[in-house]
Amino acid sequence: MYVCICNAIKETDLRAAARQCHSDAETIYASMGRPPQCRQCLDDAEEILAEARSPQNPPIRPAFACPRLALSA
Ligand code: FES
Repeated sequence: MYVCICNAIKETDLRAAARQCHSDAETIYASMGRPPQCRQCLDDAEEILAEARSPQNPPIRPAFACPRLALSA
């Protein structure tokens, strides 16, 4: 399911990104090379990121070390 229509970012992309670094949605979008445009999706994206992260399943890297992220096909 697409979370961000402007940038064609899927829920699966956000869930994978949640494990890569502890950044907010806006930073993760930028790491994907797709910064937010209309910003309508950011609240939903933040909820998905929070849901995908847990104390037992924390991000691999801190926010300042967010890598370049790829989108799924
Ligand atoms: S729907 Fe995500 S920036 Fe517009």
